[in-house]
Amino acid sequence: MTASLITNIGELTTNVATPADRCGTVHDAAVLIADGLISWVGSSSDAPAADAVVDAGGRAVIPGFVDSHSHIVFGGDRAAEFEARMAGEKYAAGGIRSTVAATRQASDDELRARVRGFIDEMLAQGTTTVEIKSGYGLDVETEQRLVRLAAEVTEEVTFLGAHVVPAEYAGRADEYVELVVGAMMDACAPHATWIDVFCETGAFSVAQSRRVLEAGIARGLKPRMHAGQLGPGQGVQLAIELGAASVDHGTFLTDDDVAALGASDTVLTLLPGVEFSTRQPYPDARRLIDAGVTVAIACDTNPGSSFTSSMPFCIAVAVRDMGMTPAEAVWAATAGGAAALQRSDIGVIAPGRRADLVLLDAPTRVHLAYRPGVPLVRQVWKDGVSVW
Ligand code: NIG
Ligand code: FE
Repeated sequence: MTASLITNIGELTTNVATPADRCGTVHDAAVLIADGLISWVGSSSDAPAADAVVDAGGRAVIPGFVDSHSHIVFGGDRAAEFEARMAGEKYAAGGIRSTVAATRQASDDELRARVRGFIDEMLAQGTTTVEIKSGYGLDVETEQRLVRLAAEVTEEVTFLGAHVVPAEYAGRADEYVELVVGAMMDACAPHATWIDVFCETGAFSVAQSRRVLEAGIARGLKPRMHAGQLGPGQGVQLAIELGAASVDHGTFLTDDDVAALGASDTVLTLLPGVEFSTRQPYPDARRLIDAGVTVAIACDTNPGSSFTSSMPFCIAVAVRDMGMTPAEAVWAATAGGAAALQRSDIGVIAPGRRADLVLLDAPTRVHLAYRPGVPLVRQVWKDGVSVW
């Protein structure tokens, strides 16, 4: 067994909460890694001997980011749509259909190369776990290709056949829903962990969303939901009723939604890149946190509403425009993401957890928000292996 020690850490964010500090901050710390797991955490001066030593030079170490929401298996891009939006066009869910056309045309190898490129880009920015959704195939064969390709690079695969109604089913949404819960579910469920639905005007109604999530649950998939992105609706209440791990977006939430989330185990995942890239109003994270809601932050990397893969960028926006403190935002991007994926082995730096860590080129985690746009990720370990 080879043990590696990261020592002389100026500020270690463990996320082992104390009453005064949810981030479980330790100064002058060291972390020992063995067999892909964290085997010891303590003060630098008490550090055990190791085969290899990394001197952090007083810099900050945080858990690897857990990006619990992405759509990175797709063909083409929508730069022209973004350009038009910045000139005043409004974001609408219908743009998804143009990515569907490009994705259906792309070969497995083209999509695979693209996904691997995004994974590398994410690792370089400190993301060690990423959830990946299907949803740009919207026919049985292509949706199955997408979940298979996603499963090549992550354990967190989500079947999102109910992303929008594809063009060939225009005006026949209920028929499309039956395809999703029937043949498409048969083809995709074996490759996925999660079932998701875009519950929104212009996508799927509350009744259709219930049909999709309940069918997924019956097939052993765990529910999560896109809701409250373009306007308020009953999606959040449905997600809570069905025990969803997370409701994502939450740009528009009623007071009842916030109270119900606060009383539930369902995480609300904020996607700051979406409001940034669509010029929608930013949701108020303070309102959520003060109501006792568990908040996560994710990138929602996709070619339409949020084409960033940078968790540091999303943290900076959440702090600047959603009312989060830097500590809350870093927690939401690590432990919060783990909660949104119902994972206890990641998002925390403690003995027995996976050794997924990020060494920042900064003395504190605050710099992630304080120095927006600056590449502060100096070194990344995934399962104990230095990958960047
Ligand atoms: O999470 N909201 C629905 N799906 C994506 C957007 C997809 C797209 O515009 O291509 C989202 O924002
Ligand atoms: Fe999304």
